[in-house]
Amino acid sequence: MRFDSPRTILHGQGTRHELVNFVKQSSSILIVTDHYLLKSGQLPQLPNAHIFANVQPDPTEANVTAGLAIANENAIDTIVAFGGGSPIDCAKAIRHAYKPVPLIVIPTTAGTGSEATPVMVITDESAGIKRMTRDTSLMPDIAIIDAELSSTMPRPLTAHVGVDTLTHGIEAFVSKKRHTLSNLHAITCIERCHQHLRLAWQDGTNMAARESMALAALHGGLAFGNSSVALVHGMSRPLGALFHIPHGLSNAVLLPEVTRFSYVGDETRYNEVARLLGISPTLESLLEYLQSLNADLEVPRLRDCCQHKQERFEQLIPKMALDALASGSPANNPRIPTVSEIEAIYRAAW
Ligand SMILES: NC(=O)c1ccc[n+]([C@@H]2O[C@H](COP(=O)([O-])OP(=O)(O)OC[C@H]3O[C@@H](n4cnc5c(N)ncnc54)[C@H](O)[C@@H]3O)[C@@H](O)[C@H]2O)c1
Ligand SMILES: [Fe+2]
Repeated sequence: MRFDSPRTILHGQGTRHELVNFVKQSSSILIVTDHYLLKSGQLPQLPNAHIFANVQPDPTEANVTAGLAIANENAIDTIVAFGGGSPIDCAKAIRHAYKPVPLIVIPTTAGTGSEATPVMVITDESAGIKRMTRDTSLMPDIAIIDAELSSTMPRPLTAHVGVDTLTHGIEAFVSKKRHTLSNLHAITCIERCHQHLRLAWQDGTNMAARESMALAALHGGLAFGNSSVALVHGMSRPLGALFHIPHGLSNAVLLPEVTRFSYVGDETRYNEVARLLGISPTLESLLEYLQSLNADLEVPRLRDCCQHKQERFEQLIPKMALDALASGSPANNPRIPTVSEIEAIYRAAW
């Protein structure tokens, strides 16, 4: 079994200031970020840096092309990603298309775990899909996990990225591709989400909770990057591509119904998840936990996310189900669904 991770991981409050020590040899640096973070005043101040801040949430191929042009024009020799999963994935794609220069990532959400995965998700607007690519060369070289950055996240963002993190832990743990080392990270991820997600949401200045969720996100990335995600992520990407629902939110609204469907595929494993969440090992208690977590974090229902456009949703279900299957993620699920079963889960989640 193989386990991949960044070469170096720094963690702890204030570690973002150590970035400067890793770029001393660099003569031309590309910082990939977004407009909010550019304006936040948090951006690392580096000499020789060129800033590309036009990354949109769910980065597109056009974003990658624009960032690549800046890399080429300035003979970039190091790329720094500063932001949530969107700037990180865009930076991965830019490096992939450019050349193998060092990639340093500083996540500001907690989060996608993209700082520690060989995975990127780029939206192909013409095909209406979010395309996931997995390649060892996509792994960042250095990840700097500084929870102070995530303390500015408002409640809805904390909820979305937090349930995304929990989903990474659960999916990596039940995936058919799980193995001994990915399991360790999945377990820690689930336990930390159980202990600290609600607290981080209730009080964004609770730094113990923020720190724990930043680590949960990292562990989640290490877990699913080496195991895999599964049906929740397979079904959530089409919702992102077609309804522009933020990644974590689209996972959160699907997680209970997908768990209901998948449970019989590996009861032992899901019961173990329940135990990690401090509840009795039954499907009913697992569903109740996930539903009340969404309710406590004020996660809206799928129909609210789609502005109640039920007709459009119904029309798109066949495409979404096919795109979900084609992504490959459902094949890792403990219970492998047919197209019509995926369609039924979308309807049940509505
Ligand atoms: N590569 C992977 O392994 C992987 C895994 C999961 C998700 N993803 C992808 O990551 C993307 C989602 O990333 P995300 O959920 O981190 O969000 P994001 O990067 O899209 O950011 C969402 C919003 O939050 C803002 N934001 C970021 N940090 C903030 C902070 N500290 N305080 C306040 N606002 C802040 C951003 O400016 C943006 O407006 C999706 O495209 C998803 O497909 C990738
Ligand atoms: Fe995710």
